[in-house]
Amino acid sequence: MRNALVGAVLAMAVVGGSPVRGADIAAGKEKAELCVGCHGEGGISQMENIPSLAAQPDLFIQWQLVFFRAGTRKNEQMQPIVEQLNNDDIRNLGAYYASLPPKAPKPDDNPDLSTKGAQAAVGRRCASCHMDTFAGTKAVARVAGQREEYLVKALREYKSGARSGGAMAAMADVAFPLSEEEIEALAHYLAHL
Ligand code: HEC
Ligand code: HEC
Repeated sequence: MRNALVGAVLAMAVVGGSPVRGADIAAGKEKAELCVGCHGEGGISQMENIPSLAAQPDLFIQWQLVFFRAGTRKNEQMQPIVEQLNNDDIRNLGAYYASLPPKAPKPDDNPDLSTKGAQAAVGRRCASCHMDTFAGTKAVARVAGQREEYLVKALREYKSGARSGGAMAAMADVAFPLSEEEIEALAHYLAHL
């Protein structure tokens, strides 16, 4: 398992260095037929607790698939899917989802909560890794416009240690001191960006 992970990471290091070469978006789109039932048309999820994938950074998608395949990130629904993916599929899927436009922002039904979330994001320096637009970069997730209940779930899981963040432990340290109130405000704010 460890060798498979290292192999995939090395392959990504080589191909990841030259983003114009290697990945095949059309092949990624074809493979994504396996994903559309859960992650939605155009990578925009309509289902509770299933994240949208549209406009996620290429490397974030690739890493998460590698983590699921290696078992360092666990999810019953993703497990049987990643067993069917080879390294080329993972590269192509990363390029495909990164090429899709993000979900259009929806109207904010609780601007006061968003203000609290924005303040927490500044205080906790979330943008230092997720970028000012919260669109993410490299292995750092896009969180702007992500489903609110999924953001809450992800932050709770980092805080509790249920999700480790694979090779990148950054989020465990970030989420540990967050209160439940902050988590809910942050999720609301980010989901409406
Ligand atoms: C049966 C439903 C299902 C199918 C089919 C499925 N997924 Fe998922 N996927 C999930 C769920 C549920 C999660 C959230 C896991 C969690 O909560 O940790 C997830 C999470 C992910 C993540 C992590 C995203 C993030 O923001 O953390 C990626 C990447 C991903 N899936 C890619 C894919 C790809 C690519 C396919 C098709 C090859 C696919 N999934 C097919 C249910 C599914
Ligand atoms: C030191 C860099 C860093 C900081 C600071 C940071 N993040 Fe992250 N964040 C990451 C990385 C890297 C990932 C992907 C981790 C993984 O592989 O699970 C991530 C993932 C996430 C995810 C999961 C997204 C998904 O789709 O699964 C959420 C939610 C999140 N961050 C929210 C936040 C919030 C809110 C803050 C501020 C309180 C924050 N992050 C601060 C680096 C950071």
